[in-house]
Amino acid sequence: MERLKQAIVERGIVLSEHVLKVDTFLNHQIDTGLMAAVGEEFARIFQQDGITKVLTIESSGIAPSFMAASKLEVPLVFARKRKSLTMDEHVYASRVYSFTKRTESEIAVSKDFLASGDRVLILDDFLANGQAAKGLIEIVEKAEAVVAGVGIVIEKSFQPGREQLINSGYRVESLARVASLENGRVTFVESEAPIK
Ligand code: G4P
Repeated sequence: MERLKQAIVERGIVLSEHVLKVDTFLNHQIDTGLMAAVGEEFARIFQQDGITKVLTIESSGIAPSFMAASKLEVPLVFARKRKSLTMDEHVYASRVYSFTKRTESEIAVSKDFLASGDRVLILDDFLANGQAAKGLIEIVEKAEAVVAGVGIVIEKSFQPGREQLINSGYRVESLARVASLENGRVTFVESEAPIK
């Protein structure tokens, strides 16, 4: 998605070889026009897939997912992160380990909001090691619903998340695929030359 790639190049900050900061339009301040375009693109990609729910994880997944769910005219559900394990039988839960933050958290969705007939589109802002996506997939499968696909705003293709999800048989659609953040520059998969 060219408009997104342009925002990454012009407004993103390469913090290290592994971390891209996009606080100006995605993770802190939200560019609403860009998010609307992101939502439209996800809706276009998945419009034939009979999606009945969009599922994401708080907090940064919510903005792009809201726009996509709105375009697809389906509800958006977001998994909540819980600090402590409380015995709540009315949720589907899974554990997510963040390699970036070196923390493990439990994520949970109320059983009221996912059902066995659902075809679920999982969306998130970043795909790195794929732990968040895997946790969301586990929740969908506990609900005996179908994972129709995984949509990602920014995929870091040099990290293993995409490959692992594809090897497990899931469809992954990323709007921007970052090949490298080396030397302070963003390069995209399939782009000929470094852009920044
Ligand atoms: P994974 O889910 O793919 O395994 O990723 P990882 O554990 O490495 O990521 C943990 C958190 O860091 C996630 O946010 C993820 O979106 C974010 N993240 C990963 N790589 C980058 C990056 O290069 N840049 C930015 N800006 N964020 C990155 P989170 O903890 O769920 O936070 P939030 O959604 O509440 O903001």
